[in-house]
Amino acid sequence: MKILFVASEGLPFSKTGGLADVIEALPKSLAALGHEVTVLLPRYRNTRAVPVPVPTLTIPMGDGLRFPRIEEGGALHGVQYYFVDDPEYFDREQLYGVAGKDYPDNAERFAEFCGAAIEFCKHVWMPDVIHCHDWQAGLVPVLLRTRYAKDEALRELRVIFTIHNMGYHGAFPRETMKKIGLPETLFTIEAMEFYGRINFLKGALIFSDFLTTVSPKYAEEIKTVEYGHGLDGVVRNRADRLTGILNGVDYSAWSPERDKLIAARYSPKDLSGKLACKKNLLEAFGLPPETIDKPVIGIVSRFAGQKGFDLIEQVASDLLEEDLAIAALGAGEPKYEKLFRELAKAFPAKFGVKVAYDNILAHKIEAGADMFLMPSRYEPCGLNQIYSLKYGTVPVVRATGGLDDTIDAFDPATGSGTGFKFQEYDGPALLGAIQQALSIFRSDPAAWRRIQLNGMARDFSWKVSAAEYAKLYEAARKFGNQRATTSSNQPGAKSAKITPVVPTGKGSHGR
Ligand code: ADP
Ligand code: GLC
Repeated sequence: MKILFVASEGLPFSKTGGLADVIEALPKSLAALGHEVTVLLPRYRNTRAVPVPVPTLTIPMGDGLRFPRIEEGGALHGVQYYFVDDPEYFDREQLYGVAGKDYPDNAERFAEFCGAAIEFCKHVWMPDVIHCHDWQAGLVPVLLRTRYAKDEALRELRVIFTIHNMGYHGAFPRETMKKIGLPETLFTIEAMEFYGRINFLKGALIFSDFLTTVSPKYAEEIKTVEYGHGLDGVVRNRADRLTGILNGVDYSAWSPERDKLIAARYSPKDLSGKLACKKNLLEAFGLPPETIDKPVIGIVSRFAGQKGFDLIEQVASDLLEEDLAIAALGAGEPKYEKLFRELAKAFPAKFGVKVAYDNILAHKIEAGADMFLMPSRYEPCGLNQIYSLKYGTVPVVRATGGLDDTIDAFDPATGSGTGFKFQEYDGPALLGAIQQALSIFRSDPAAWRRIQLNGMARDFSWKVSAAEYAKLYEAARKFGNQRATTSSNQPGAKSAKITPVVPTGKGSHGR
């Protein structure tokens, strides 16, 4: 089967979050299963690629036309890479915006990217299935079923759309429709209109043949008002086409037995290297050497409202009264950067912070910390808690989305479980879970070792999930022309039930 991935970021070329890990590892696993996989990304600054000998593409934009080029990035692990190259749009300092503010022309940038993806199919490589990810690729299904609806060459092409995060809509003012060449007929509640704005994610939810999201629990949650970000009605309307497929992780990059970025290698048979990693972590974060005997909690995260750091703010003084240390790495919303910097200033011997994006430090935290904290308000899947399991770093998480699906609460009676969970989104619940973990860490080393080994034995490699995607692609291919006649893909034919709540989505925010 021929599968084209269309996404706004993917390792080893570009990354701001977990999407990039998935866009590297899933294609690689599909290729290993024998599929032909191509990944199409924007060509951002410093991406090396060579032009392919096809005519320049022509994409309508506003009153004019744009002429992005397709460049080739070669093959890696059996996966072929191509880029959409338009330096004015993509050769910038960051992917989606600078200093906490989105680029003002993100709608145009990603509309061009989506248009170019379809032209790529026509002129360079025609897949059986096109697999789009998040709002930045959301116009692919919309354009295919509108602008290109009568194009014979694209008739058989099926579209799968994966929701990595319902919180980012790609929502723009109404005038954007004209700028990016979308017909006014799409500005209806049954199509792309959302509270007076145009919404790329909503368009993708309505026009794709099949939808997936990145954990079974999140697939259920996004049908509810609490987690739907105002689009839960649209999701419920398409529930028959939605599956939750848990993300895997790439153990060739994230395993303490092979990791070259950490101070020492270790395995379930011999955990002694973890102590060297802890020492190295304390040095990297300027924490006192005597902390080696104390529990160290690690955090690696985008600093965003989704991640639950308000709860840390709520309980910071109680938490930092405990005899522990925290090593936190993250960057993002200025409000959280400020919070973490202030905590580090107030508690220099206990709270180490690096406000940065730093892959090496991320690995050092996974290996050197005793516990890993993810108190997310919502978490579609989450990868760091899964990495933590492999590193014997015990996750303390809120029981939401993929965090709930991947972490089993420790049961002292049976010794089963891989971490600590709390349900309610509030400070005392978070503090309670951390204190439970601290108490076992301090009082019962054998139980603690058991939790570590339980986690290290878990296998979240991509093999199983990649096979599930392959099954879905096959179903989509067989789905054939039914799509053209089913009402749920036709805007206007079936009214999307929009829940009348104030939308909580972050508009056009990048990730
Ligand atoms: P999300 O995609 O919502 O950010 P995930 O847990 O799925 O959350 O993935 C986050 C990925 O980004 C992980 O690979 C993590 O190591 C990485 N990451 C996040 N913040 C940083 C940072 N400040 N420095 C280095 N890596 C980071
Ligand atoms: C999103 C989610 C995260 C998920 C990642 C990859 O950014 O926030 O939970 O793991 O995408 O699917």
